[in-house]
Amino acid sequence: MPFSLVRADITKFSADAIVNAANSSLLGGGGVDGAIHRAAGPELLEECSLLGGCETGQAKATKGYRLDCKHIIHTVGPIWHGGKQGESEQLRSCYRNSLALAESLGCASIAFPLISAGVYGYPKREAIAIAEDEARKFLADHDMEITLVIFDTDSFEISAERFEDIRQYIDDAYAKLRDDSDRRPMMAATVMGSDPAAISNDEPARPKKKKGIFGRNKKTESAGSAPCEMAEGAEEASADDFFSMRDESFSQALLRLIDERGMTDVEAYKRANIDRKLFSKIRSDIHYKPKKQTAVAFAVALKLDIRETEELLSKAGYALSNSLDFDLIVKYHITHGIYDIFEINEALFKFDQTLLGQN
Ligand code: APR
Repeated sequence: MPFSLVRADITKFSADAIVNAANSSLLGGGGVDGAIHRAAGPELLEECSLLGGCETGQAKATKGYRLDCKHIIHTVGPIWHGGKQGESEQLRSCYRNSLALAESLGCASIAFPLISAGVYGYPKREAIAIAEDEARKFLADHDMEITLVIFDTDSFEISAERFEDIRQYIDDAYAKLRDDSDRRPMMAATVMGSDPAAISNDEPARPKKKKGIFGRNKKTESAGSAPCEMAEGAEEASADDFFSMRDESFSQALLRLIDERGMTDVEAYKRANIDRKLFSKIRSDIHYKPKKQTAVAFAVALKLDIRETEELLSKAGYALSNSLDFDLIVKYHITHGIYDIFEINEALFKFDQTLLGQN
């Protein structure tokens, strides 16, 4: 997974490169700097003392010593002075220079702490946004596994308003579930005569008209159009279209949807935050069964609506329920038209859920 968030102690994390939020002397300190020096052992300080320090925004590499990494990349973040002294550009440089250095060292994976968000006082929300934005830019034309390692839970914030909105959405869904189960016997009495057992557990009967990917008529869909409702005047898919698409595997449906949106495969898997190797497996094996979080990641990348998402997931044997936080958080974002995978993963991370695209 090209970009992920984890809750961990970076000194115990495994990656080709582990980044240290150092100070300009490179001679150790507190916070993650102190933790890395303690865990790596005294040889790290010996090597650092030969580097002649490091400018803010720059990055220098040493060996990994006792850490589970090949290289430790030391970068010096800006001290926060209110945001008007070029702090954001300096912080961006930390990520850009660390990633460039990791690439030059042939690293396939790198783990960052939240640079400057501790002693140096950078506001956490903005620090996260910069880390994600620089990772996203780098990943647009590089392949690397970038992990942002969050040490303490209060280090990770999403907007309070968004958090509350999602929390309410989840609570409302659970309340509705409870109401429905309470009302089911009464419903039976009114709708189905006296026998409650006769009530099916299915969702309320869906509208008869075919919608979504089965009903879409490929001939009339222009690439990149939002496929949720049948385009006005578009013909209904013919019966054999309907049944042939019904027999599609997940892989076949995914590749068709990518083509129908005029996307390239690279755009699709980059937007889904899925690595090239996993996408190649899905593309080359029409019976490949992805994990649910991978299938949903592609639904988000393709900007499917809820119905189309459910139809695509059903081809991999999954459904979106109203009784799982993961599913409800995904539904919240799709129904609100939020298709930014990093944004959705922040919310999933905040609610301790598996991330989209996570293996
Ligand atoms: N693993 C991962 N992250 C950690 C760990 C750890 N073991 N320990 C701390 N962190 C997190 C903090 O929670 C914070 O979010 O690292 C982030 C950066 O905090 P600091 O370590 O304080 O680094 P920074 O804010 O960049 O200040 C750098 O602090 O330690 C000194 O020598 C360092 O002078 C330099 C300054």
